[in-house]
Amino acid sequence: MLERLKKTEEEISEFRADSQEAIEYFRIKYLSKKGVISLLFSEFRDIPAENKKELGLHINNLKKLAGDKLEELRSALKYSEVSGSYVDLTRPGIPYFKGSRHPISIVRNEIISIFSRLGFTVSEGPEIDDDNHVFLLLNFPPEHPARDMQDTFYIDRLSDEESNPDDILLRTHTSSVQVRVMQSEKPPLRTISPGRVFRNEPISARAHCIFHQVEGLYIDKDVSFADLKQTLIYFAREMFGKDTKMRLRPSFFPFTEPSAEMDASCTICGGRGCNVCKYTGWLEVLGCGMVDPNVLDFCGIDSKEFTGFAFGMGIERVAMLKYQVNDLRLYFENDVRFLEQFRSAF
Ligand code: PHE
Repeated sequence: MLERLKKTEEEISEFRADSQEAIEYFRIKYLSKKGVISLLFSEFRDIPAENKKELGLHINNLKKLAGDKLEELRSALKYSEVSGSYVDLTRPGIPYFKGSRHPISIVRNEIISIFSRLGFTVSEGPEIDDDNHVFLLLNFPPEHPARDMQDTFYIDRLSDEESNPDDILLRTHTSSVQVRVMQSEKPPLRTISPGRVFRNEPISARAHCIFHQVEGLYIDKDVSFADLKQTLIYFAREMFGKDTKMRLRPSFFPFTEPSAEMDASCTICGGRGCNVCKYTGWLEVLGCGMVDPNVLDFCGIDSKEFTGFAFGMGIERVAMLKYQVNDLRLYFENDVRFLEQFRSAF
């Protein structure tokens, strides 16, 4: 009998369970009414008195061992709500591939964070829009070249000869979102509109037919060009570093007057000149200007009472400058070797 006790003791110590069923098997085998230990106890009655003391001690120890083991097996195997099954929490975890945010999302979120610190809210609008919101209310005269089939993807065009406010198209910029904000809200307005835009252009290292923009709009009493300049310099320094300088060059947009393009001092050479900035020391970042009074009036805001500024930038372009990526197509190919290099708090 001693032999059997020792063998059972060994079996119990070495028992492993990786499922609820295995634990139940163990309980029935050793601890149930007809189990191994009960059987040993019943045989114990017929043992000669002189052996009883030693064997009794052994059987009691065995019973305790089996009880403890059952507890141990049960606590190692915990029910997981996630997988809906029992898992062994003491097992080492399975390593898994951890993704990173897409660089365009990182830069988009960073732009939003910078402008939200200045009190700008985020507004969104439809990607499929009409001529009225994308062009007409933004002071694009009907014959403006940007409406040309070259640039705009039309979905439903009423006439090939002339544009119509009801033409349905893919928005070419997110200024259309700001039209909707101006129509539905009263100044003061301070909002940015991030989103996807579409232009019928050949794909190259510098251009894509789908890209992302963040456009900003600020309307209040007495908003001046100085406010615009200060806002943009704050943005440039937060985005590219505190020593960044900026310059404004006169430009033209139908919806702003005066209009400008903003350059930031080259992020690579700090303005001394290198091949990234083509030895000019400057990088072109965005378009901006004072909202044309026509646009305010078209959208139901009294241009005698209010003034405003607007700006718009391509997220891919900002990301290229920030990360020194020289081919915009890399952002769309989604090669993991490229994407996993971007890790960020945003
Ligand atoms: N909407 C312009 C574009 O898509 C950018 C812009 C916005 C310029 C606001 C000036 C003011 O290029």
